[in-house]
Amino acid sequence: MKKGKFTLVENTALVPGMHRLTFSGDGSGIVPGQFAEVAVPGYFLRRPFSVAGFDGGSLTLAVRVRGEGTAALAALAPGAELDIVTGLGNGFDLSAAGERPLLIGGGSGVGVLWPLCRALAADGASVTAALGFNSGTESFYVSDFAALGARTEVYTADGSRGRRGLVTAALGDFEYSSVYACGAAPMLQIIDREAGAKAQFSLEARMGCGFGACMGCTVETVNGPRRVCKDGPVFRGGELIW
Ligand SMILES: Cc1cc2nc3c(=O)[nH]c(=O)nc-3n(C[C@H](O)[C@H](O)[C@H](O)COP(=O)(O)OP(=O)(O)OC[C@H]3O[C@@H](n4cnc5c(N)ncnc54)[C@H](O)[C@@H]3O)c2cc1C
Ligand code: FES
Repeated sequence: MKKGKFTLVENTALVPGMHRLTFSGDGSGIVPGQFAEVAVPGYFLRRPFSVAGFDGGSLTLAVRVRGEGTAALAALAPGAELDIVTGLGNGFDLSAAGERPLLIGGGSGVGVLWPLCRALAADGASVTAALGFNSGTESFYVSDFAALGARTEVYTADGSRGRRGLVTAALGDFEYSSVYACGAAPMLQIIDREAGAKAQFSLEARMGCGFGACMGCTVETVNGPRRVCKDGPVFRGGELIW
């Protein structure tokens, strides 16, 4: 866990309501799947976001506008300086990937899978990225996965881009040695049921303190209550009680 000053260098509207914020600052020591806590100017509680890109000198977040805090972030101009805590949570276990990992992302859950895809591809894995959206006009990050050499398939609910239907269909469409997923709870629940122990999920929960003290982000697991901020946000298949 590391707290530092980050300067916004680029704010790109990927699709309406979804922004890619790229900061310069110390992005070292981050593990794919970890999240960052952003101090939004004018707001008391930090907002948690999965890390959607990083290297030694930069940090990227993919932010969907949901309420006031995310709207304020999306409105920031390059040059804005923010206080951000990085290296939070446990991240994905890459050692469980095998040769053919399948990455399944839904909506704003897509971003966190990109640094994972990059790391798995660098390890020599043959990665398939299945990215699900409501429609083609809401799709983003697709070319970024393809640029890493991943087989990249888009699923849209209305069929306007890629395959029509739910992205969970990827479980039947491809062979895989492991599954890494982030998205809405009903999507993760289907993956948990069908992929079982081969799966890892990145969860989102309403957070308070963000460092394990308030228990506000607790979820039920077969091992008892667990905090998403401290014990997650990545959980194993078969671990969560939905
Ligand atoms: C580990 C983790 C990783 C996350 N990663 C991302 C990410 O990569 N990209 C992204 O866009 N968002 C992500 N989120 C969700 C993000 O933190 C919230 O959308 C954000 O804090 C809302 O702030 P706000 O001030 O705009 O909304 P608020 O004004 O606080 O709330 C507005 C609305 O958003 C809902 N909301 C608030 N927090 C959450 C939440 N955690 N999950 C679902 N709904 C919420 C509220 O119930 C309310 O309806 C993540 C959350 C967690 C816990
Ligand atoms: S947010 Fe306080 S314990 Fe997780």
